[in-house]
Parts: sequence; structure tokens; C-alpha cells
Amino acid sequence: MKVPTPSDHSDRKDEGKGLAMSVISVSTDASLDAAPPTPDFGPADRLVCRECGASYALGAAYACVECFGPLEIGYNFGTVTRADIEAGPSSMWRYSCLLPVASYAGTEPNLNPGLTRLVKADNLARALGMTGTLWVKDDSGNPTHSFKDRVVAVAQSAARRLGLNTIACASTGNLANAVAAAAARGGQQSVVVIPSDLEQGKILTTAAYGGTLLAVKGNYDDVNRLCSELIGDPLTADWGFVNVNLRPYYAEGSKTVGYEIAEQLGWRLPQQVVAPIASGSLLTKVDKAFREFVSLGLVDDTAYRVFGAQATGCSPVAAAFRAGHDVVRPVRPSTIAKSLAIGNPADGPYALDVVRRTGGVIEDVSDVEIVEGIRLLAETEGIFAETAGGVVVANLRKLLASGQLDPAAETVILNTGDGLKTLDAIAAEVGPTAIIEPDVDEVTAVLVRAAAASIEGR
Ligand SMILES: Cc1ncc(COP(=O)(O)O)c(C=O)c1O
Ligand SMILES: [Zn+2]
Repeated sequence: MKVPTPSDHSDRKDEGKGLAMSVISVSTDASLDAAPPTPDFGPADRLVCRECGASYALGAAYACVECFGPLEIGYNFGTVTRADIEAGPSSMWRYSCLLPVASYAGTEPNLNPGLTRLVKADNLARALGMTGTLWVKDDSGNPTHSFKDRVVAVAQSAARRLGLNTIACASTGNLANAVAAAAARGGQQSVVVIPSDLEQGKILTTAAYGGTLLAVKGNYDDVNRLCSELIGDPLTADWGFVNVNLRPYYAEGSKTVGYEIAEQLGWRLPQQVVAPIASGSLLTKVDKAFREFVSLGLVDDTAYRVFGAQATGCSPVAAAFRAGHDVVRPVRPSTIAKSLAIGNPADGPYALDVVRRTGGVIEDVSDVEIVEGIRLLAETEGIFAETAGGVVVANLRKLLASGQLDPAAETVILNTGDGLKTLDAIAAEVGPTAIIEPDVDEVTAVLVRAAAASIEGR
């Protein structure tokens, strides 16, 4: 084990000692006889600081030794063609050559997420008065019913390359499902840490996959802090926390949402995208995917606007956007959209950058509007979203009403999770039309009453 050394500051190794317990790095120092060969990360060739640009050897590192900025993956892609991608598997692994994974990552035991459907949502568009084409990228179709299977698949592969036998995470719920299930399938150990007040639909489903599930008396930000502290403990020497010390790899998995949108549209970019924000990572990676496709010549360089969606009860990025701030002031979350309840979002400033650069907007909606959003999507398109999907639909409606989103432009909204996991959110709002005896007359009476009510309601 060795502290990552900035390639361009190799005389300043000692300054990194403060991080020595929190990073595990693969050495590329040829002077160490016993140094293992550099693991195969496909086109990825380094870690790069997003703030100061210092670069490091690939390893389980996430913070810059020079400035504490977050690290991200650096690549050397070479030539990538549409035909290469189209010849790949029917999963996110068709984009392996654009991810920090070995070319064979998709053949190792994993959940094979991705290539979820892109649904043309004409009924929803009509209900909202949109004249441009509206699409729903429905990531509830992933193996554990959220987009988190994508990020975990990349982190799981990185854990293998780095010899980390336990995959761990701090989660607002969906990541918990994805890590526990991926570890079960991959023959790895899992340690999942969640706030204890999550929805039963997320706690029980995670527990069902086995592994260790720790429910912490606190909110997500407490959970995240605990995991950061655990990384310095010898107890976790062979653990990969997918969204902490494997975060640079994990985050890249979200690019596949953007790649798929562009490929499924017939190799072109949409004009507008609405994405939910928790940490802000997904939104930034959809933008990164679009920019990579443009620079690789896979799509034309057409303008697009990225919009961010938050719940008012946890809207630190929307608040910073409105105030014109570059920094995000942390909040204490209180919303039914628990999957988005990150009060101190790691990628908040980068999400602000993307939205401002592309001419989008970040808005937020109330819990009542979130439930209305869930019901509107379900009733118009037969897609039952979790609260995060309700946040996106309700924000779409709000942005249209305020004239901030163009109703005539082609728009993609992201449904990132499945409503079956957040039944609590709508339990008070929906239920059977009537509870009846098994009797034809009772059915007739209910239908007559319903018809009369509908005439009255017109
Ligand atoms: C269903 C769902 N959608 C969206 C997000 C937001 O992801 P990010 O943290 O990348 O902003 C999450 C995060 O947990 C989530 O669970
Ligand atoms: Zn730095």
C-alpha cells in the first residue's frame, strides 16, 4: 500500500501522509521490486484532481493530496466507433471502452445493468401542454430497480482489480439494494450503511440479499461521515466503499445513462434533459457523456440544456442556483424523497457549473407536488416511479409553467427508481375504488356511481 503520489510533484510525498490512512493506491514505482503490475482499467490511465489538475496512479483514492479536491478518472480513449458500441452486449457493458474497466469486466459475475428503455411519453407531453417530443429514460428497469446498479457495476469491477474483497457504501436506499445484490451475485462480502429511518421497501429488499446492513440513528450525512472515518480504520483495509474511496470509478457508471440516451435517439443529443440531484453526480455525468460522444465524433455537436430537480425539503443546490452562489450551503433534509436527501452534496458545485454552462435551471418542488408527479406519470404512461421520479416530473411541470423549459424542444426526463420501493409516499393517496362482496350487482353499482361522478366532475 502506498499513498498516491502526484506524478508532477513526486518530491512532495510526505505532504500526503495526512491522507495515508484514507487512501489505498496502486504503486507504479518501478523501483519497488515487489510492486504488482498495474491493474487493467481499460482506457483509464490516471486519476486527475478536478480542482488543481494534479494526476495520480489509478488506485482506491478519492481526494487530492495537494488541495483535497475530488479525483476523477483520466482516459486515453483512442478511436471509438458507433459500430464498436453496437456490436457490444445488450447492457451498459457495450460502453466498456469508455469506462475505467477492463474489456472483460462484463463477463465477470455482475448484475449486467443498463440498456433500459427510452419511452416516448406522448400522453404525459399532452397532459403538460408540450408540443416537442418528451421521453422518459426509465432506469427503474435495472436489476435492483434503480440507476444505482450502473455505478455499482463499475465500482465492483474496480474493487476486483484492486483486490478489495468487501464492497461497502453509505446509502440513501437504492445504492444499498445495488451493493448488496451485486456482492451476492459477485461472491463478495458487502457492508451497507443506511440511515435507520429509510423506507421499509429499501431496508427489507437490501436485507434480503444478505451481507451486513447497518442502520444508523442519524441522517445520510451522518452515515457518510461515519463511512469516511471507517476508511481510516484497519478494520476496513480490504474494503472498497463504492461511493467514497472508489468514487471516481463508481461515478463514471452514471455516464452510461447519457450514452444510452444519445444512442437510443439514433446517435444524437436531445435539446433538454431533466435530472434529479442528490449528490449531483448523475447530472454531471450525463453531461460528461454527451461531451465525450461529441468529442469522439459519435454525435453531432448540438446545443442541449441540463435542468436539475430537487425536493424543497432538501434543496441546497437549487438554493445556491437561485442565489447565484458557486458554493452549496449544507441543509438538514426533511422530505419524502429520501433517496435524494443529501444535505451536503459532494458534487453540488459541479452540478451548478453544468446547469449554468448549458443554460438550464435547478428548481425544487414540495412533497405534495412530488406525490402529484408520481401519480401523473403513472396515470399517463403506466410508469410507477419512486419519489425521485416524482421530483423530476413535478419539476418538469413547474419549469414549463414558469416558462423556463421550452415546451417545443425535445426533452428527456430521468426516472431513476421504482415506486414499489416507496409505497409509503402514496399510501394515503391511492387505494381500491371500492371494497365489495363477490357479487355482480355490487360491481354494477360501483361502476354506475363512478360514471355519475365523472359526469359531475366534467
Ligand atoms: C433514485 C435516485 N435517483 C437519483 C439519485 C441522485 O443521484 P446523485 O447522488 O448522483 O445525484 C439517487 C441517489 O441516491 C437515487 O437513489
Ligand atoms: Zn488538487
